[in-house]
Amino acid sequence: MAKKITIRDLASAAGVSVTTVSQILNGKGDRFSKATQEKVLHLRDELGYVPDFNARNLILRSSKTIGVLVPNLNNPFFSTFIHGVDITARKEGFIAIVFGANHEVDLERFYLRQLMERSVDGFIIASASITAKTVDDLLKPWHTPYVLFDQNENRAGDRLETDDYQGGHQAAAYLARQGHQKIVVLHPKLPTININNRLKGFVDGLGEAGVTFDAKQWIVPAELTKAGGYQATADVLSKKPTAVFAENDEMAIGLMRGLHEQGLSVPDDISVMGYDNIDLDEYVMPQLTTIEQPLHKIGETATKMLIKRLKNPSMDWQKVKLAVKLVERDSVKHL
Ligand code: RIB
Repeated sequence: MAKKITIRDLASAAGVSVTTVSQILNGKGDRFSKATQEKVLHLRDELGYVPDFNARNLILRSSKTIGVLVPNLNNPFFSTFIHGVDITARKEGFIAIVFGANHEVDLERFYLRQLMERSVDGFIIASASITAKTVDDLLKPWHTPYVLFDQNENRAGDRLETDDYQGGHQAAAYLARQGHQKIVVLHPKLPTININNRLKGFVDGLGEAGVTFDAKQWIVPAELTKAGGYQATADVLSKKPTAVFAENDEMAIGLMRGLHEQGLSVPDDISVMGYDNIDLDEYVMPQLTTIEQPLHKIGETATKMLIKRLKNPSMDWQKVKLAVKLVERDSVKHL
């Protein structure tokens, strides 16, 4: 295999110094003649020179790389979030390296360490199992900036969240306005802090609408996945509700399949509402009523927060909370 062309090889072929090549390739070559600049650029392409990123990183002390850790790459919530990270990072001259670890603590720690060894400039972490202990054990000693988002415990550090309490409250108020009082909530057995806030808002919202909510009677455990909602179908039907609030859209979509297989019609026989507003919501029938989280903006904001931290390491902690809103479609019936 041919030897990789180095900057010295390129400089020698062009008959100029390494510094001249470096400045021309980094867009700082105006003081050199047009002929010299064109010669260097032509030879770069002809010889196939590509800068050695690690060598440049040693000089620039920045890999211009952001490590992103999410729970579930299969969920459109996180893929849209990551798209927001990617576009914003690129605008700022960074790239994002993304890992999904499904709450497997050892795997998450492995990925964080691997990213650190690749000298990422900072982390965006959206995973409940990155606990305060992991932050103290791993992230703080590395002195690498991070933004915690979504599922983590409240703690010091730059933090981005959406208003889960308000989202649950809006869902409850909407279902109560549609006349529903017997409402099942699909809720994970091991809820993360943001999911618990969603439930708190929902229970308070029902209470303010004069609807009592007995958690023992109306909570059905389910994973925050399509399979989780689907597998909960029998438990849901055993409660004989008029409506179901699923704490994310994937659960709602999985449940809708289960209800269809039981010969039931949404919303005529039972209403279903989700949370997130992922793109699939407009492609299921009936289209899903939900609470919208600003998915792309979450990714964009987390990235801007991290890059702001990189530029201002000693500034005060950033705390940002983004609003959510009801998106009414066709899956909830007015009784
Ligand atoms: O759908 C994934 C869920 O996990 C979203 O509601 C998001 O808030 C995360 O907590």
